[in-house]
Amino acid sequence: MTVDHAANGQEALSRISAATDLDTLEGLRVSLLGKQGSISALLKTLGAMSPDERKVEGPKIHALRESVTEALTGRKAALENAALEEQLAAQTIDLTLPAPESPRGSIHPISQVMDELAEIFADMGFAVATGPEIEDDWHNFTALNMPESHPARAMHDTFYFPDRDAENREMLLRTHTSPVQIRAMIDVVQESPGGAPLRVIAPGRVYRSDSDATHTPMFHQIEGLVIDKGIHLGHLKWTLETFLKAFFEREDIVLRLRPSYFPFTEPSVEVDVGYTIVNGKRVVGGSEGWMEVLGSGMVNRKVIAAGGLDPDEWQGFAFGTGVDRLAMLKYGMDDLRAFFDGDVRWLSHYGFSALDVPTLSGGVGTAA
Ligand code: PHE
Repeated sequence: MTVDHAANGQEALSRISAATDLDTLEGLRVSLLGKQGSISALLKTLGAMSPDERKVEGPKIHALRESVTEALTGRKAALENAALEEQLAAQTIDLTLPAPESPRGSIHPISQVMDELAEIFADMGFAVATGPEIEDDWHNFTALNMPESHPARAMHDTFYFPDRDAENREMLLRTHTSPVQIRAMIDVVQESPGGAPLRVIAPGRVYRSDSDATHTPMFHQIEGLVIDKGIHLGHLKWTLETFLKAFFEREDIVLRLRPSYFPFTEPSVEVDVGYTIVNGKRVVGGSEGWMEVLGSGMVNRKVIAAGGLDPDEWQGFAFGTGVDRLAMLKYGMDDLRAFFDGDVRWLSHYGFSALDVPTLSGGVGTAA
């Protein structure tokens, strides 16, 4: 048997170098080196040869296989390279083009101020507590020493729901964040029987049926509650002073505490902050005039008991203030309604950059 390996090899090699795509090349590989391939068939003939014949034919067939394998590998690399080059050529990116500006949102002043408050109080060891906006009248009123028919209930223009809850309590939109006081005490007693101490703030939405330039039916409050042993008005005053100094970022904050009345605190104090007139505008700091900023007092014994704690053992103070009002005072907006109009121009003027996270060291209220 004489086989012209040289001629077979030449033909195979020229077909390989003529292949213009990877599929054709793979077809050639299978037909030459695959199980049923022609070179594989040649290799199989070696077994049937006499030793002398094999000595002559063996090296030739192996050399043929090697050169074909090499040619296939080389051609494959060349074709892949060409495909890549073609792709790169088609995908040119002009780096000198300006990038289109991506639309950017901003942080609403209310969110910003709530973050600032959380940061300030976290520094004083307060955790954030929450409660539902749909409350029942026990948490919103009764447990806060406003039993049914208590005249103070009438001062909250409450939105009631037509139905009662599973415990037959009237349901309403909470009129203040004070029900979170009750929920926080009940939670702490549940977590550790004996309960307290407790230091929480509760920022959130509250609702009253009221609407004009300084009142919206939905607005924001932040509640503060401290329960511990031996707590007195001095702790309350220091806490409020420290908070207001950090919030307004001024040392010359002067507070004025006036006796007041809230059913859930005894004694109750209303807190005014002093202001100075600068260029015809009120600026917080100094004491040329006074603005009321928050309600507070020592937590009423009945409220401590409603929270499941023994009022002979635990005392505390609480305060509540309007977040919207604090934002207006600090950042100089004058119409509360604009906060909730969703006017993009107002939002981009008064909004804050998402990257300006309030920190005490960086100044809590760095404007955008
Ligand atoms: N809940 C009161 C209000 O909405 C504010 C307040 C809170 C007063 C806590 C005293 C103590 O007006």
